[in-house]
Amino acid sequence: EKAGYPHFMLKEIFDQPNSLRNGMRGRIYNRQDKPDSWQIKLGGLEKALEAPEREGKSAIDIMASARRLIICACGTSWHSGLIAKYVLENLAKIPVEVEYASEFRYRNPVIGKDDVIIAISQSGETADTLEAIKMAKKNNAITVGIVNVVGSSIARETDAGIYLHAGPEIGVASTKAFTGQVIALLMVALRLATERGVMSDEVLDSYCEALNALPDKLESWFKDLNDQIKVISKYFRLASNALFSGCGIHFPVALEGALKLKEISYIHAEGFPAAEIRHGALTLIRNFVPVVCIAMKSDPAYEQVKAQISEFRAKDAAVIVLTDQENNDFNGIASFVIRCPATKLELEPLIVAIPLQLLSYYIADERGCSIDQPRNLAKSVTVE
Ligand code: F6R
Repeated sequence: EKAGYPHFMLKEIFDQPNSLRNGMRGRIYNRQDKPDSWQIKLGGLEKALEAPEREGKSAIDIMASARRLIICACGTSWHSGLIAKYVLENLAKIPVEVEYASEFRYRNPVIGKDDVIIAISQSGETADTLEAIKMAKKNNAITVGIVNVVGSSIARETDAGIYLHAGPEIGVASTKAFTGQVIALLMVALRLATERGVMSDEVLDSYCEALNALPDKLESWFKDLNDQIKVISKYFRLASNALFSGCGIHFPVALEGALKLKEISYIHAEGFPAAEIRHGALTLIRNFVPVVCIAMKSDPAYEQVKAQISEFRAKDAAVIVLTDQENNDFNGIASFVIRCPATKLELEPLIVAIPLQLLSYYIADERGCSIDQPRNLAKSVTVE
């Protein structure tokens, strides 16, 4: 079942080119009237909703004219929600709020019939996310599920939704479901952008081409990446703290990198927006503390991030930089530079997250941790 891999987690990390292909299959396709152009259709969101007062509208119609979208999720799924906020606001120009489902359900949020609540959940069984959906329905909002497990509670409870088609995720640490969620929400953002008339056909084509090219890009990168991360992991296996930084769309990726490391390596880790480190955590930067910095050139604050990395180095931190393929700005500054294949900004998290998944995997392996079943954790949190 592990297809020759020592752990499900490693298998699932390497599954990602295929799980992403499966997530896109039948959803991004050539237009009949313009065979060189692309179109996105998301079956589960296009059909008329059952609620009679919605006048035969689909979830796409309602989301495209919603006052705002509210994303509810927990853990890793909450991180993909933060990426989705960035992408939905950037591409589809719809305001988005992202909530921890547990916080949302226990306060009295203002929800109305012009809001759409999007639940993101790999298992479809997370109790707090399910309750958030039930509460939204009581307030007459439309609910949408972005779920991996077919027929799960959240899939059944929501008015509409799409499946990730990532295949079963057995390792407790979420990997291919995370990238599956990000790609599903990217397709939602692109579909809504065209529905709202805020994206030209040419721009949509450029995104669809970048999405189609992504799985092959990952596949051809994996061998070298895997070798490099094994080396880095040996170096950091004895760390007791680590910091992760990223800006904009990469801030949630930094949070995800930190969560993965805590979860399976039992190393205390925190993720920060790069500039926030100056507001407190800078005290932790010192000799041997690994600082993983995402510094992609597409970042509007790239120059500031670069200066900050030099400052970390001056404080003797061990800096691991994730940056673009051809970038030599960090030679001689960073202890390790991980070079990521180029894509469009909104797709970068799908690439940058993978070295962080591998890093936590190999560090946990070096430390002899129980990788597929970390202590105290369950794959789906059905308790409240
Ligand atoms: C982290 C992880 C958890 C889940 C969270 C939500 O690797 O697996 O943080 O992401 O428990 O689970 P789902 O997505 O099933 O609702």
